[in-house]
Amino acid sequence: MHLSALLTACSLAGVGYSQVIGQDTISTAGLIQNNATSANTRLRYDNGTYGPAVEEVHYYNGQWPIGIAVASDGRIFTSYTRGSYNYTLGVVTNLTAEAPYPNAALNLPPSALNTTWNGIAFGSGNASAFISVQALYITSNNSRRPETLWVLDTGRPTVYNAQGDPSMPYAQPGGPKLVAISLANNSIYQTYTFPSTVHYPDSYLNDLRFDLRTNITGTSGKGIAYLVDSSNEGRPGFIMLDLGTGISWRRLTQDQSVLRGGQDLPVYQGHPLYLRMKGMPAQWQLEGLDGIQISPDGNTVYYSPLSQNYLYSVPTLNLRAQDTDELAEINAHANVSNHGQRGSNANGFEGDSNGFIYQLIPEHNAVFYYNPRDGQTHPFVRDPRILWPDGGSIGADGYLYLNINQLPYQPDWNNGVDLRQHPGAILRVKLPNNGTKVTSLYA
Ligand SMILES: *[C@@H]1O[C@H](CO)[C@@H](O)[C@H](O)[C@H]1NC(C)=O
Ligand SMILES: *[C@@H]1O[C@H](CO)[C@@H](O)[C@H](O)[C@H]1NC(C)=O
Ligand SMILES: *[C@@H]1O[C@H](CO)[C@@H](O)[C@H](O)[C@H]1NC(C)=O
Ligand SMILES: *[C@@H]1O[C@H](CO)[C@@H](O)[C@H](O)[C@H]1NC(C)=O
Ligand SMILES: *[C@@H]1O[C@H](CO)[C@@H](O)[C@H](O)[C@H]1NC(C)=O
Ligand SMILES: *[C@@H]1O[C@H](CO)[C@@H](O)[C@H](O)[C@H]1NC(C)=O
Ligand SMILES: *[C@@H]1O[C@H](CO)[C@@H](O)[C@H](O)[C@H]1NC(C)=O
Ligand SMILES: *[C@@H]1O[C@H](CO)[C@@H](O)[C@H](O)[C@H]1NC(C)=O
Ligand SMILES: *[C@@H]1O[C@H](CO)[C@@H](O)[C@H](O)[C@H]1NC(C)=O
Ligand SMILES: *[C@@H]1O[C@H](CO)[C@@H](O)[C@H](O)[C@H]1NC(C)=O
Ligand SMILES: *[C@@H]1O[C@H](CO)[C@@H](O)[C@H](O)[C@H]1NC(C)=O
Repeated sequence: MHLSALLTACSLAGVGYSQVIGQDTISTAGLIQNNATSANTRLRYDNGTYGPAVEEVHYYNGQWPIGIAVASDGRIFTSYTRGSYNYTLGVVTNLTAEAPYPNAALNLPPSALNTTWNGIAFGSGNASAFISVQALYITSNNSRRPETLWVLDTGRPTVYNAQGDPSMPYAQPGGPKLVAISLANNSIYQTYTFPSTVHYPDSYLNDLRFDLRTNITGTSGKGIAYLVDSSNEGRPGFIMLDLGTGISWRRLTQDQSVLRGGQDLPVYQGHPLYLRMKGMPAQWQLEGLDGIQISPDGNTVYYSPLSQNYLYSVPTLNLRAQDTDELAEINAHANVSNHGQRGSNANGFEGDSNGFIYQLIPEHNAVFYYNPRDGQTHPFVRDPRILWPDGGSIGADGYLYLNINQLPYQPDWNNGVDLRQHPGAILRVKLPNNGTKVTSLYA
C-alpha cells in the first residue's frame, strides 16, 4: 500500500515559462476536471478514463487519510499519519465524517507523540496507545480468531521545529507495533512490538499481510505476518512476525529489489515531482519497499519499492527462514524473481480471488494489475479523480475501495505549502470476473 511518506518534499512546479530554475512556481495546474468530456476540438484526445465505473463512497473534510480497510459488515476503517491530527485510527461514520476508533483515549494526543533525549527527538515508546498508524488490514474470522482489524503503528510521527521544518524522530521499542482488534467486540486483544535489532530506529512500517493457517512451515502454527519496512533513510526490507511466539526477524534487507530507485522522478498530472521538504534541498523520491501482496495459495509474495518501476516476487518460504538458517539470506536473494517493469512507480497493492495483483499507480491516476498466469501487467481502472490512490482494500461486496489523499500536494512535499483541496475521498470499483477478497489464508 501506500506510501507514507512524510519525510520528503516536492513541488508540482514547472508550469509556465517564467519560472526561474531553483525557485518553485508551485501549482495545481494540469488537474483534469472529471466533467471535461468535451475538449472543443476535432482532434482525438485522452479523456483520462478507462475501466469500470468509479463510485464516490466517502468524502474526507478534515484529516487526510493514509490506510483503509473494509470489514465484512461494511464498516470502513481509516488511518492518518501524524503530526498534529487529533487521532490516527478512525472509522467512517457517515458520508462526510469519521470518528476515533476504538475510542479517543487509545489515540495518544498530539502532545504525547514524541520525546527528547540528549537533544534528539524520539517517537513515543507507548505500546498501549496509537502514535501514528500507517496501514490497516482485515482478516476474516475462523474458529480460532474473530474477524480482526490489524493496525500497523509506525511509532514515528512527523514533528516540526520552531521554523516549521518537518522531520521524523527515531523509533523507540514499544512505539512501532502491530495491534489486533476484534471486530466482534471492538477491543484490542493482542499487541506485538519489535526489538531494535529487527525494527531499526530509522525503520518505517508501511504495510502488512497475513497467513493464518495452522500448517505453514517454519511457524508455530498460530499464523504469520509479513510486514514491509519502507525506510526512507535506507535500510528497507521485510519483517516477519510469528503470531504465536511473537518472535520477529528480517529478510532481504537492502536487497536490490527493496531499495529505492536511483534518482527517481515521478510525474503527477504531467508535472515532474521533486520532493521539496521545507528547510532541505530538493530530493528525488526516497521510498523503498512499499507494496506487498500474497498469492491466494500463500506461496508467493509480490512486492515493489515505491520508487522503482519493477515488480518482484519471492517464495514465502524464503521469508519464513529465520536467522538460525545460515543460508536464509543467500537463498532468499537467489529466489527473488524480477517480473520486469510495469510502466510506473506504484504504492499499495491488493489481491483478489482471481489471483490478480492490483497495484495502485499514482503517476497515471490508475490501478493496474499483474496476472501471474500470463506474466503481464494490465490496465484495470483510470480516472482523473484518482489523485494519489493511497491504499486499497477489497470488501465482502467484491469492490476495491481506494483512499484518495492528493499526497503530492501535501505541504511536506511542497516547501510547506498545502496545495491539497478538500474533500479527500474513498472511491470504489467493482472487481472483474466477480473477484472477491482472498480468504483462503484465513481458514
Ligand atoms: C467542471 O467542474 C468545474 C469544477 O466543479 C466547474 O468549475 C466547471 O465549470 C465545470 N465545467 C463544465 C464544462 O461543466
Ligand atoms: C473516455 O473515453 C472512453 C473511450 O472512448 C469512453 O469509454 C469513456 O466513457 C470516456 N469517459 C469519459 C468520462 O468521457
Ligand atoms: C482537535 O480537537 C480539538 C478539541 O476537541 C478541536 O478543537 C479541533 O478542531 C480538532 N482538530 C481537528 C483537525 O479536528
Ligand atoms: C455526519 O456526522 C457528523 C458528525 O457526527 C454530523 O455533524 C453530520 O451532520 C453527519 N452528516 C450526515 C449527512 O448525517
Ligand atoms: C517533539 O519534537 C519537537 C521537534 O523536534 C520538539 O520541539 C518537541 O520538544 C518534542 N516534544 C517533546 C515532548 O520532546
Ligand atoms: C500510554 O498511553 C495511555 C493512553 O494515553 C496511557 O494511559 C498510559 O499511561 C501510557 N503509558 C505510558 C507508559 O506512558
Ligand atoms: C464467522 O462469523 C460468522 C458470522 O458471525 C459465523 O456465521 C461463522 O460461523 C464464523 N466462522 C467461523 C469459522 O467461526
Ligand atoms: C474481545 O475479543 C477477544 C478475541 O475474541 C478476546 O480475547 C477479548 O477478551 C475480548 N475483549 C473484551 C473486552 O470483551
Ligand atoms: C494447510 O491447510 C489448508 C487449510 O487450512 C489446506 O488447504 C492446505 O492444503 C494445507 N497445506 C498443507 C501443506 O498441508
Ligand atoms: C526457492 O523456492 C522454491 C519454492 O518456490 C523452493 O523449492 C526452493 O528450495 C527455493 N530455493 C532456495 C535456494 O531457497
Ligand atoms: C458474476 O456473477 C453473476 C451473478 O452470480 C453471474 O450472473 C455472472 O455470470 C458472473 N460473471 C462472471 C464473469 O463470472
